[in-house]
Amino acid sequence: GRRGDSGLNSLASIRANFAIKALDGPAGDAVAVSVEREDVVEASEAFRERALVSSRAQYEEMYKRSVEDPDGFWGDIASTFFWKKKFPVKDGKLHSENIDVRKGRVAVEWFKGGETNICYNALDRHVEAGLGDKVAFYWEGNDVGVDAKLTYKEVLERVCQLANYLRSQGVKKGDAVAIYMPMLAELPIAMLACARIGAVHSVVFAGFSAESLYQRILDCKPNIILTSSAVKRGAKIINLKDIVDDALVRASEGGHTVGTCLTFDNNLAIKREDTAWQEGRDIWWQDVVPSQEKKCEVEWVDAEDTLFLLYTSGSTGKPKGVLHTTGGYMVYAATTFKHAFNYHDDDVYWCTADCGWITGHSYLTYGPLLNGASMVVFEGVPNYPDAGRCWEIVDKYNVTIFYTAPTAIRSLMRSGDEPVKRHSRKSLRVLGSVGEPINPSAWKWYHEVVGDKRCPISDTWWQTETGGFMITPLPGAWGLKPGSATLPFFGVQPAVVDENAQEQHGECSGYLCVKAAWPGMMRTLQGDHDRYETTYFAPFKGFYFSGDGCRRDKDGYYWLTGRVDDVINVSGHRIGTAEVESALVSHPMCAEAAVVGFDHEVKGQGIYAFVTLLEDVEYSEELRKALINAVRSQIGAFAAPDVIHWAPGLPKTRSGKIMRRILRKIASNELDQVGDISTLADTSVVEQLINLRGK
Ligand code: WTA
Repeated sequence: GRRGDSGLNSLASIRANFAIKALDGPAGDAVAVSVEREDVVEASEAFRERALVSSRAQYEEMYKRSVEDPDGFWGDIASTFFWKKKFPVKDGKLHSENIDVRKGRVAVEWFKGGETNICYNALDRHVEAGLGDKVAFYWEGNDVGVDAKLTYKEVLERVCQLANYLRSQGVKKGDAVAIYMPMLAELPIAMLACARIGAVHSVVFAGFSAESLYQRILDCKPNIILTSSAVKRGAKIINLKDIVDDALVRASEGGHTVGTCLTFDNNLAIKREDTAWQEGRDIWWQDVVPSQEKKCEVEWVDAEDTLFLLYTSGSTGKPKGVLHTTGGYMVYAATTFKHAFNYHDDDVYWCTADCGWITGHSYLTYGPLLNGASMVVFEGVPNYPDAGRCWEIVDKYNVTIFYTAPTAIRSLMRSGDEPVKRHSRKSLRVLGSVGEPINPSAWKWYHEVVGDKRCPISDTWWQTETGGFMITPLPGAWGLKPGSATLPFFGVQPAVVDENAQEQHGECSGYLCVKAAWPGMMRTLQGDHDRYETTYFAPFKGFYFSGDGCRRDKDGYYWLTGRVDDVINVSGHRIGTAEVESALVSHPMCAEAAVVGFDHEVKGQGIYAFVTLLEDVEYSEELRKALINAVRSQIGAFAAPDVIHWAPGLPKTRSGKIMRRILRKIASNELDQVGDISTLADTSVVEQLINLRGK
């Protein structure tokens, strides 16, 4: 292709990247990691008394069983859920797996032959157990003072009404339903309604552009899309319906027509009469859903029937439709939630993620509801109207478990301690972090200022593909080290491997892989099982490859060091460099582009784009803006490059491969570390680029 180094999944390219990235990866203050690594933060005696697992020895014992007898371990837990038809045990096994490409197709199944429904387990089961009046959602709107409360019974009724409507529109088991909604309570409700009737939800984060939404629609071909008229996020109003309309027009032109657009009338953000409308296709949610029956029969599905698709970025090509199935995902999401947050029935949980990402699936929707938790669903952003909003919400609902991303912590940290200390936060018990490596200074601020040194921090490492936590503290069970995700969850067998796919032992660093299947892992990529195998299982044969680098210390603790492939993690959002490059070159004046990540104080990583213009085109401020806009409209505002670096030429080898290693050094201003450039076709390019830095 245009960028010269396709085949990024080849071992050679991972190896080439690894030398750079895994060793001095983007973990913010990487130097501090090694200095501070010996700090161990223990939970208080009082905390440990209520811990589900209260010592490392107890964990070791449970862990041992989970890896030596995964069927017994997970079977016992799965039995605590409701199964319409109990999963069969064959020869002592209730799962089958092959993750070794040398032994044939990669295939993983858990609880196959068992029939259940995740919506039933998340809602009906609790209502039937007498918890109908327990609050499920404390919905907190973007604007202060706008809120709503929904009990388990009420959520169930709303889910049933929507499920009935979907059924009335002909949606049946296995059909895809696209969801492009803001964080209204109706978003998790929509996901559950799909699950209830066996439909496959495909939530697209409502910050993606029309083009991205269109691509996802074309891949999973839903006949119905659920959206909302608009959303107010912070001080901004975003007209979602216009974006959906645009995507649906593109989809029709591209060969797939979505018949129905069910639109939630979000009159706080926009009036009905100001919303663009296409008669016949567009329907107001409020006109058809509330009049439906409040009961809806459950569609019992096989444990291995698809629950949802969620698109995520990889290092090459278009986004991948990660496919999760029902039974294993259900058991895994629920169990990881319970243990990593040391969940108790009287907790009030708040996860700041959006349902458009995997965290919003596993730990805003399914995990907590499967545990019967009360939770806050927040529509807004952490610093609106000011940097004290989160703590105001914590006090308002007496939040006990707070789960957010390092980027939010760092951005709040910049506003100082006062907005935090202004609020009591005395309800807080456990804090969580997800999305990227948390740098020790942010970890400490979170622990000392937000948590008053009282709350253990669960730094949860996992991925869209893993379905649930993989490496995470179990609060109270062992000491924490700021910046380390600590130890593997039950049933997870991490392997740190070298470039020859040799597992390393003891203290080591390398590529983070997993050597056996776990219940929550993705089963395939939508419509592309080959890509599933080549991306995740071919680079290191015999292992699942995460794409992350890591180090394991003498205590067995894992320290994630960031991606070793061409994925950038911006504010916890995964963005493929290839996607940004392809958006840039879609601009008519752009000849070539190469994108790398660089350390960014708040976002973790920022996007740095080297751009070569067509011959005779002058670089200008106007063009810079137009290039950034190209990325906004192709992907979404969150992927907009921070820096456009004009590049008359790019550093390429004689075979035409762009040497990203050099670009990364230029982007991070480590000009003395550019290293060996003798293999470049034209070495003068490097100096030229250095001279144009900041211009
Ligand atoms: C990164 C988000 C270090 C990692 C759940 C991974 C982390 C990618 C952590 C997955 C963490 C996530 N420490 N790195 N606690 N959590 N990551 O699919 O690079 O959006 O591969 O899933 O985020 O991003 P995804």
